Amino acid sequence: MNQQRVPRKRTYLMCSPEHFAVEYAINPWMDVTTAVDAELAVKQWDRLRETLVGLGHDVHLLTPEAGLPDMVFAANGAFVVDGTVYGAQFKHEQRAAEAAAHRAFYESQGWRFIAPSETNEGEGDFAYLPEAHGGLVLAGHGFRTELPAHAEAQEALGRPVVSLRLVDPRFYHLDVALASIDDENIVYFPGAFSAASQKVLTQLFPDAVIADDEDAMSFGLNLVSDGLNVVLNSEATRLAGKLKAAGYHPVPVELAEVKKGGGSVKCCIAELRH
Ligand code: ARG
Repeated sequence: MNQQRVPRKRTYLMCSPEHFAVEYAINPWMDVTTAVDAELAVKQWDRLRETLVGLGHDVHLLTPEAGLPDMVFAANGAFVVDGTVYGAQFKHEQRAAEAAAHRAFYESQGWRFIAPSETNEGEGDFAYLPEAHGGLVLAGHGFRTELPAHAEAQEALGRPVVSLRLVDPRFYHLDVALASIDDENIVYFPGAFSAASQKVLTQLFPDAVIADDEDAMSFGLNLVSDGLNVVLNSEATRLAGKLKAAGYHPVPVELAEVKKGGGSVKCCIAELRH
């Protein structure tokens, strides 16, 4: 018998891909010779925004800035837990200025903001499970976020941080390899992690939904769930089936344009947790 899944209302932050382009390549998915249709990107992104609103969630908007083509990937700008914002510090120069835009947003809204001194890319590499072990942070390192940032986040947020090592450059952020599907459980692709980190995940999350290479390659894990409704890339049909079998409600969205930047649903969304 399937467990009854219960949605919880969320507050999200998104940033329109008005200025989206692939002008540099900082992950294996990006190819500067690929043509990008920014207008189509905005249309697809807008459908994602409408989908979240239609599910009853609040969506705040960050103003996109010319010259910052990856700003659409709002997940990378900070990591928010219990009303405290741990700011981002991007690895690559090309995205560095995005951090200030996010900081200005949070400060204008009166959030408690903690500036980082270590390299970290916000929710790209941090996930939060409020009901797992009393409130647990999962953190990726290996490509973008650096290990000292995990300790810094733990001090900033007062929640235990479990470090996980990413080993496959295609899965350069935690959020392309692992996602929370409710307050206490996750879905992940084991192959993206070191053998030891896989062991840690098995120990902490014995009931996790396990994704395979195909699910991960279609950006299926780059999803956002409210506890019942799982918004995910429409190409990830197999993963959608697995989630459905586990009692969740998959909501596919098409994001082919921003995918050219190496991201999908989750990359476009930061969660603001009061
Ligand atoms: N082009 C962006 C980068 O490489 C994509 C970021 C995707 N965001 C994410 N949360 N995984 O930085």
